[in-house]
Amino acid sequence: MSYIIGTFFILTVELFGDVRTAPVPTVKISQTYSLSLMLQTSSANLLNTYLQYQGSPFSDPGFSAPDLQLAVLPTVAIGFLAWRSMAVEERLSSNIRAYSVYIEFLQLVMDDQSQLNPAAKDLKDALEHHHTHLQGLKSNISEIMTNMGFQVPVVADTISSTSFNVSEFQRKIRGYVFCKELKLWIDRTVRDFQLLKTTFPTA
Ligand SMILES: *[C@@H]1O[C@H](CO)[C@@H](O)[C@H](O)[C@H]1NC(C)=O
Ligand SMILES: *[C@@H]1O[C@H](CO)[C@@H](O)[C@H](O)[C@H]1NC(C)=O
Repeated sequence: MSYIIGTFFILTVELFGDVRTAPVPTVKISQTYSLSLMLQTSSANLLNTYLQYQGSPFSDPGFSAPDLQLAVLPTVAIGFLAWRSMAVEERLSSNIRAYSVYIEFLQLVMDDQSQLNPAAKDLKDALEHHHTHLQGLKSNISEIMTNMGFQVPVVADTISSTSFNVSEFQRKIRGYVFCKELKLWIDRTVRDFQLLKTTFPTA
């Protein structure tokens, strides 16, 4: 019996490189990577669909304002070495923290657009699609963290009530910044899961 346990222990160490209390959910990591790839395509379409309904200057050909930011939305920017050397727990936590805010902010954008563009069915569908699958993404990542024995961070309500009474133009801008930054975050999640898949390949 102790011989069997000993062999299993050595195998585990060889497979994962360090001693873990819980097995790494490699299949779940792979599925979450696929989900992030799906969202990468759909978020690029969301940005274009969004812009097309907001009027000038947003709908003008080639419109882009890459430097526009909103303080409430976690920025994706990180140096390559800082990103590459993140621990797995930190990498997954930063995804959970970002998507908690983006999911909450998406509700605000959905409310804005149902007032500004009530007839834009494809935009409404695209926003709802992201609302569903960003929650899916967040809950898949939470499950991976739980399986690996990590603490899932809890993010408190981040949007202040002063956000409710703003001009039409400000609503259009915040929706634009949301779509633009969401796409960048999903690009980062795709890279995060590519790296995790390489670190923990499926058996
Ligand atoms: C993972 O994401 C998918 C797609 O959004 C969702 O249907 C599924 O319920 C999620 N699974 C878990 C365990 O959160
Ligand atoms: C909303 O903003 C407008 C213009 O700034 C102001 O006149 C109005 O009183 C505000 N309404 C509320 C409910 O704060």
